[in-house]
Amino acid sequence: MFILINIIGILFFCLIFKSVSSYEIELGAVNKLVRCPGLYCGRELLQNGSWSGCGACPRGFRANASSACIECDDSPEFYDWLYLGFMAILALVLHWFSIDTAAKRRSFCKEVLILHMCALFEIVTAAVLTLLLSDPMGSLVVRSCRTEKLSDWYTLLHNPNPNYEETLHCTQEAVYPLYTMVFIFYALSIVLMLIVRPWKQGKMSIYAALYFFPILALIQAIFGGLIYYSFPYIVIILSVISNAAHFAFKLDQSMRFLVVSTVTDVRNVVILLGHWLLHAYGIIAITQLEDPVFHSALVALVPLPAVFYILTARFTDPNKLHVD
Ligand SMILES: *[C@@H]1O[C@H](CO)[C@@H](O)[C@H](O)[C@H]1NC(C)=O
Ligand SMILES: *[C@@H]1O[C@H](CO)[C@@H](O)[C@H](O)[C@H]1NC(C)=O
Repeated sequence: MFILINIIGILFFCLIFKSVSSYEIELGAVNKLVRCPGLYCGRELLQNGSWSGCGACPRGFRANASSACIECDDSPEFYDWLYLGFMAILALVLHWFSIDTAAKRRSFCKEVLILHMCALFEIVTAAVLTLLLSDPMGSLVVRSCRTEKLSDWYTLLHNPNPNYEETLHCTQEAVYPLYTMVFIFYALSIVLMLIVRPWKQGKMSIYAALYFFPILALIQAIFGGLIYYSFPYIVIILSVISNAAHFAFKLDQSMRFLVVSTVTDVRNVVILLGHWLLHAYGIIAITQLEDPVFHSALVALVPLPAVFYILTARFTDPNKLHVD
């Protein structure tokens, strides 16, 4: 009997709780601004002065704290530019790597150099065109919405469903235009490559690029937000690994050979300096040069990984690991 009363009591409590928690939310058009559920839902100001129903704000607009869609007029911060630069550099490095691999040569020749220069030209032109195409059109200035947190990149995952009834679709580009700009840039790079790159010598490198651009676009689509927050570390880790791999592929691992082959061959010098520039880019992105003097001094550390490899290569030679 007691159990029965208890169960009825609990059911009754649930009923009250349910009626309290399912409060009324005004989702339709309103005369006075009423907050919408969800981080990214907003109302647009209508012609007659009332506010529209809750939904996604138009492109280039973002809901403020009281759910009014306000046009963004921020400009990208230093870190945002570094992020866009990283996306461009990533494509350029992959171009150069595939041209170098396809050439199957251990030194530069005229044809390969021309391909490298073409790749640089395509990437720079695509980047400038992307800036010109972004709002305001025809200028290198970019109007953007400020990125505040990781969820800004994944508004798709933050569609609210008030009272567990129907889901409100408020998916939009809250980091306008950082997300779409990268796709435009990749598309332009491919088009320019097909126009500019000499087909006769560059066939293999063009095929490679037709593979890696869609992969880059897919990675950006899924991991864009995570990359935005972690790219400085990605740059440093990948460039240190690739620097080590560059040395490790040399047959002779003696200190003398590594140093001599690095200084006497133009290709090796370029690869080494390229890696140092990447290390420096990573350090600048991590510190954002907030303390200009100290952080510029840190940039002077870029030769360390290479020096460390050359000094220790002898001790990590697998032939020396056998005790017998
Ligand atoms: C303003 O227009 C919208 C739709 O066009 C309508 O729903 C709303 O009632 C209008 N508001 C007023 C105050 O007339
Ligand atoms: C959001 O924008 C509306 C319309 O401009 C304004 O009335 C409101 O005060 C803003 N809310 C906040 C929190 O800034």
